[in-house]
Amino acid sequence: MKQFQLPSRIRLANLPTPIEPATRISREWGANIFIKRDDLTGSELSGNKVRKLEFVIAEAQKNGADVLITCGGLQSNHARATAVAAAKLGIRSYLVLRGEPSAINDGNILIDHLVGAQIRYISAEDYAARVDEIMEQSAAELSQQGYCPFIIPEGASNALGAFGYIEATREIATQLRQMKINIDYLVIATGSGGTQAGLIIGRKLFNQSYRVLGINVCDDQSFFVNKIGRICNDAIDQYQIPVAVSAADIEIIDGYVGEGYALNRPQEIELIREIAAVEGVIFDPVYTGKAMFGLREQILQARFRKTDNILFIHTGGLFGIFPKKELFSSSG
Ligand SMILES: Cc1ncc(COP(=O)(O)O)c(C=O)c1O
Repeated sequence: MKQFQLPSRIRLANLPTPIEPATRISREWGANIFIKRDDLTGSELSGNKVRKLEFVIAEAQKNGADVLITCGGLQSNHARATAVAAAKLGIRSYLVLRGEPSAINDGNILIDHLVGAQIRYISAEDYAARVDEIMEQSAAELSQQGYCPFIIPEGASNALGAFGYIEATREIATQLRQMKINIDYLVIATGSGGTQAGLIIGRKLFNQSYRVLGINVCDDQSFFVNKIGRICNDAIDQYQIPVAVSAADIEIIDGYVGEGYALNRPQEIELIREIAAVEGVIFDPVYTGKAMFGLREQILQARFRKTDNILFIHTGGLFGIFPKKELFSSSG
């Protein structure tokens, strides 16, 4: 492996997470699917964000931070993971969330409250237009009160956060070698781009031959080619990572946003239910369930060869089923 200086890291995730064959859906869909269980990085602290936070919070600690500020939707997995991590480290969290305080107290936001996060609710318009500015403003207010705040961008999807999945690739490469499996495609849900950016850099750094496919759950292909390209290049430049990433490396399968971000169609809910029943693995409605829906469609449309091995990373999000319980009880 090429040498470069790895940024500081704290330990938050239970690693390595297992890679399991999904035998029954594989048989049914005519494919070879394996699942990397990053939903098992923790319980309160579960999912892909924990890997990114290991690097981002290490930086916050170096800066003497005693409040972590971040943002997201009302049911943000990232905001919840940040709030839980802060509580675990004995510091405070301040979440700028898109939505109304009167919305259902369930799923991720329930956990946010439980771990004592301070929450600032903003409108969808303000979120879209100036969430970064609002986080800066909140940081200034907290500084005036004598705190030392540290801002983590949406999804921890920046150069430093990319190291979560650069290092996850090291873990995957070791596991594949031990399991004597060759993977042809690594597939993930893409929401803010940091996971895919890390996986693309990691694939090059650790000489992996598989292709990385992101199935976007919001925005579109050109948005993510730009955003992921920017995160990759920032990480490569800032940390002198000896690889180059081009637009051709950023493969997005567009077309499965469906009704919109965090909105579901009955067929997505039905698939989550079906996989839960046959595999005992629960995907979430906002990210992994939608990506799995896209993956199955692509398999049925013969995008892959029958012999291809596909590794899907389950990036977590289980708490997302609870605020959508009506959808689950009315289908099937
Ligand atoms: C459960 C889950 N899966 C996938 C993603 C997508 O990861 P990323 O934001 O790094 O694209 C997210 C967050 O956005 C998530 O919460």
